[in-house]
Amino acid sequence: MMRLEGKVAIVSGGSRGIGRAIARALAAEGATVVIAARDQDTLARTVAELRTGSASVEGLVADVGVEAQVAHLVQHVVHTHGRVDILVNNAGVGVFKPVADLTVGEFDNMWGTNMRGVFLLTKAVLPHMIRAKGGEIVNIASLAGKNSFKGGAGYCATKWALRGFAGSLMLEVREHNIRVVTVCPGSVDTAFSTTGKKGNTITQPEDVADAVIFAVTAPARSMFSEIDVRPTNP
Ligand SMILES: NC(=O)c1ccc[n+]([C@@H]2O[C@H](COP(=O)([O-])OP(=O)(O)OC[C@H]3O[C@@H](n4cnc5c(N)ncnc54)[C@H](OP(=O)(O)O)[C@@H]3O)[C@@H](O)[C@H]2O)c1
Repeated sequence: MMRLEGKVAIVSGGSRGIGRAIARALAAEGATVVIAARDQDTLARTVAELRTGSASVEGLVADVGVEAQVAHLVQHVVHTHGRVDILVNNAGVGVFKPVADLTVGEFDNMWGTNMRGVFLLTKAVLPHMIRAKGGEIVNIASLAGKNSFKGGAGYCATKWALRGFAGSLMLEVREHNIRVVTVCPGSVDTAFSTTGKKGNTITQPEDVADAVIFAVTAPARSMFSEIDVRPTNP
């Protein structure tokens, strides 16, 4: 049984890694999925890969840190599909260096994507979800938003901030039947990860996608506001 038939989802950073796995899982449950990322070629390749069987997947180039591009993305989705039921704020970047070596540009880029991007996309979809009297906002944060580590000052700060943002947002919008779910993975086997681990010693993108599907298909009366996903035996 497809549990998300008739639903429309936006997945930021859906062209690779965790976002691609989430997009695939949402489409497999029957949702129409619009993925957004900056690189047109990768986006087009992923859309072609995900469009199997009855899966409805579309790609739109957008930088989540740029207000006009985010507005265009959401307007396009609402104009084309009539609604936005699920927003997955997944796009994120990480530069892992001691503060002394981290450049202002690297710091700003992490904030622009990991936090400003989440704010812009959330703000753009909220009026549509409030009008529809419901929705799902999923944020991909990180265990780096709960634990500090050397070389993680810039990145950890964005993910701690995201959890703070998400907690307040959740309290603000639940009266509209909008659920806010924040998923905090540890290291995941994507190009982003710096651990070099593969296979069963590291969480796979599909495991994070499973958590997202679990949360967005839960009975409407309950909300899994925060989910940690970590390897069993690293
Ligand atoms: N992998 C891990 O170990 C891990 C652990 C915990 C949390 N996370 C979080 O999970 C999320 C996804 O990570 P990942 O491992 O899947 O990374 P990834 O493989 O590097 O993929 C990142 C995705 O985000 C897109 N993106 C980056 N900047 C963007 C921007 N400004 N606007 C729009 N799209 C942008 C990328 O496409 P373009 O470059 O073409 O834009 C790509 O599709 C991130 O928020 C990350 O912080 C990752």
